[in-house]
Amino acid sequence: MIDLAQGRGAATLPADGTAETFDAWLRRRQAQAQTLIERYVPAAHAVVPQLHEAMHYAAALGGKRVRPLLVWAAGECVLGDPEALDRAACAVELVHAYSLVHDDLPCMDNDVLRRGQPTAHVRFGEALALLAGDALQALAYEVLTPDTGIAPALQARLCALLARASGADGMAGGQTLDILATGTAVDAEALIRMHSRKTGALLKASVLMGAACGGFAPDRSNAHNQSATEALQAYGDAIGLAFQVVDDMLDVTADSATLGKTAGKDAMQNKATYVSVLGLETAQTLATDLRDKALLALDRLPPAERARSGRLRELADLIVLRSS
Ligand code: IPE
Ligand code: IPE
Ligand code: MG
Ligand code: MG
Ligand code: MG
Repeated sequence: MIDLAQGRGAATLPADGTAETFDAWLRRRQAQAQTLIERYVPAAHAVVPQLHEAMHYAAALGGKRVRPLLVWAAGECVLGDPEALDRAACAVELVHAYSLVHDDLPCMDNDVLRRGQPTAHVRFGEALALLAGDALQALAYEVLTPDTGIAPALQARLCALLARASGADGMAGGQTLDILATGTAVDAEALIRMHSRKTGALLKASVLMGAACGGFAPDRSNAHNQSATEALQAYGDAIGLAFQVVDDMLDVTADSATLGKTAGKDAMQNKATYVSVLGLETAQTLATDLRDKALLALDRLPPAERARSGRLRELADLIVLRSS
């Protein structure tokens, strides 16, 4: 099991020129995500202080920052533009934070614990939680569209990737399937449809946004670009689904203190999950198979990108072996 909890260490590159360990990279990037979120979602704000306090609470306090980590890992693979990568990393985390606030609402999963604290609606009331989620989503697109610093075509591509992954074909659609499936018998195919949208889509978008920052997008007239993008898409599909399979497993195997959210919640609410449909052992096998599939996809990258795919490989392991 890998401990992904934040706050254990180094926030800067080693000064002596030695290769940075994965653990040190993780801590540095998590700290960078924190700095960006504090910049774009300050706790104190003159205009509507209550809303900003709720936004800051939801986005800045805790979280493993897996989506920003994927943006930066993909960005390192394709030598992406640093400013665009930072903004993409922050934007996808803001959408994720909003999705958690709404996921926890009484009309959804009705959860009281998130990231080790009372959920946003418990702390601020339902109306403010709802609005903080709305505002975090809007802010993500503001972060992606600065007046200067990122070429307009790249801004548009990043917005399109994030919007598609968040909307009816992505997270919101998957969350709808989740709500509709609750308490019903579903098969493995329906689970894949639901999980790949509600959770997989944003994780895959994180990889593709990182790729876009290096100029990589589907392009049949450019074989190099096309094959790299296809490999990263396949990687994103696999780790995106694996992430939710493991989330379902941890709901059963971990405790609330480790998770920072209520353990055993899925069974309590009669949720359709990989564990409820396939059992814990099959879910574990599936998670490992998906990790292998993700690693095989990276083997299909063109040589230069393959040589720089180390962080993506390490993240695939981490997504499957994490303890929270
Ligand atoms: C939890 O996501 C919700 C899912 C999409 C499964 P994370 O496990 O990434 O939550 P945080 O950001 O670390 O709190
Ligand atoms: C939530 O899935 C996925 C989202 C889009 C937020 P879960 O409902 O399983 O996430 P947790 O377990 O509450 O974090
Ligand atoms: Mg849910
Ligand atoms: Mg939930
Ligand atoms: Mg869950």
